[in-house]
Amino acid sequence: MANIKHIITFVMLWIVTMHLCIAKSKNDELDSVTYSSFLSVKPQDDPYFPDDQWLVNAIQEIAYYLRNHKFNEWDRRHIKNKPKSSSIGFYAAFPEPKLRSVHWQVRENCGQNFYKCISYLYSVIDSAPFTRSDDVSMMLSRNESFSNDTAISDLNKDCKRSLKYAEKTGLPFDTPFDKFFWRTSASYYMCWYTMLGTPALSMIGESCDNFANCLDSKLRHRNYDPRSDDKLSFACAIHSFCPDPCCPVKRVRSIDECPNIKKNPCLIENNKSANISNRQCLFNRQENQNLEDIIANNWNVSCHCKEKGFEWKSKFGMCTDINECTNNQHNCDGKTQTCLNLPGSYQCICKWDYFYDPEIKKCVNRNIVLKPSRNESFSYFKIFDDFKGFLELIGLWHTP
Ligand SMILES: *[C@@H]1O[C@H](CO)[C@@H](O)[C@H](O)[C@H]1NC(C)=O
Ligand SMILES: *[C@@H]1O[C@H](CO)[C@@H](O)[C@H](O)[C@H]1NC(C)=O
Ligand SMILES: *[C@@H]1O[C@H](CO)[C@@H](O)[C@H](O)[C@H]1NC(C)=O
Ligand SMILES: *[C@@H]1O[C@H](CO)[C@@H](O)[C@H](O)[C@H]1NC(C)=O
Ligand SMILES: *[C@@H]1O[C@H](CO)[C@@H](O)[C@H](O)[C@H]1NC(C)=O
Ligand SMILES: *[C@@H]1O[C@H](CO)[C@@H](O)[C@H](O)[C@H]1NC(C)=O
Repeated sequence: MANIKHIITFVMLWIVTMHLCIAKSKNDELDSVTYSSFLSVKPQDDPYFPDDQWLVNAIQEIAYYLRNHKFNEWDRRHIKNKPKSSSIGFYAAFPEPKLRSVHWQVRENCGQNFYKCISYLYSVIDSAPFTRSDDVSMMLSRNESFSNDTAISDLNKDCKRSLKYAEKTGLPFDTPFDKFFWRTSASYYMCWYTMLGTPALSMIGESCDNFANCLDSKLRHRNYDPRSDDKLSFACAIHSFCPDPCCPVKRVRSIDECPNIKKNPCLIENNKSANISNRQCLFNRQENQNLEDIIANNWNVSCHCKEKGFEWKSKFGMCTDINECTNNQHNCDGKTQTCLNLPGSYQCICKWDYFYDPEIKKCVNRNIVLKPSRNESFSYFKIFDDFKGFLELIGLWHTP
């Protein structure tokens, strides 16, 4: 007896251990790293928690460096030389197709701890030949009258020169391609931490309405894009680290432009609608927190659907029928009725062996209703009408 008990205990222990191993190896993959595990850690208990000023400065440097990537870089995997400006920038989506692998050092440092991530990214950027403190536009946005025009123009020439050098050499990385690879990977993680609502990213403490590219020939040091208003929660972090799937253009002057731009995913559904708020596209952080899907540009946005019973599906980029039957939005009596999903609605129909009794408005067993009235098949006619409507909709039926 004792022996069997031991064997059983051993087998059970073995099973538990195997499970733990599987769980552990799964945890090493990037998608299963959950934020909750480090949200529950108070920053003070976090060995990587830095002092405030250091953190603010580090985030500003990283935001600037990745903004330069977002607005001025191109896909180095396919294009060797700088293309014309229309095909530069990742403000619509991260590089497509996604990177086949994420830079291993970025993954090592950013996969588990936000502060460790910031500390690593900052240390790399610190040795780059062109950073935020070299950009005249950052100096000007801090103090517009810090110098006279001649001096500013000279500073801008220096700025452009070091920018060009950094672009050409790819420093502090071995090649420009390595830089592209590293900065894309860093953007993935920084965007992820933004979507997760990491408090330190809610405001970065300085203006981010520039393309991190020295003085712009037309816009000078500020572009006044309302999406980069640091007073709005997470606006600068999103503007620096993430694409904008709702408003995928480099710059808007007013937020009212977004509903009307051609690439607004909500425009197709509502292009005839005069009511502009029907074209509003919503990009919620809460719906975009899966790292794997962030990397793959599987963004979730919400659009208004003009027909009742339809909902927006980002996956398909269109309004699709809500299946009331499978998501329990129906009120059919499970015992006597079956739910039938219809375009935009649903219908309760009597189960096999049950008939509709119009007097009590219920499906009753055949044995009880001896003389069926004309109305008993009412629900079937209704369904046929709906079905006909559906066929008409897809062009298979024409009412004479
Ligand atoms: C801006 O720079 C000018 C010239 O260096 C200086 O006189 C002025 O006090 C600065 N303003 C602020 C707000 O720092
Ligand atoms: C502009 O400033 C520079 C140094 O800051 C000075 O040498 C130059 O004389 C100034 N030019 C004018 C027109 O004020
Ligand atoms: C609305 O979109 C449809 C389909 O894309 C297109 O055929 C139609 O011309 C558009 N209408 C307007 C007013 O833009
Ligand atoms: C426009 O659409 C929004 C959202 O669908 C609605 O709340 C609002 O009442 C509409 N306004 C007008 C003038 O129809
Ligand atoms: C978008 O939503 C789908 C379905 O809920 C989810 O699987 C996916 O991870 C989401 N995308 C992001 C970027 O989180
Ligand atoms: C059948 O139903 C209709 C409306 O639902 C009602 O007006 C009519 O009186 C009913 N006929 C019988 C025979 O119950």
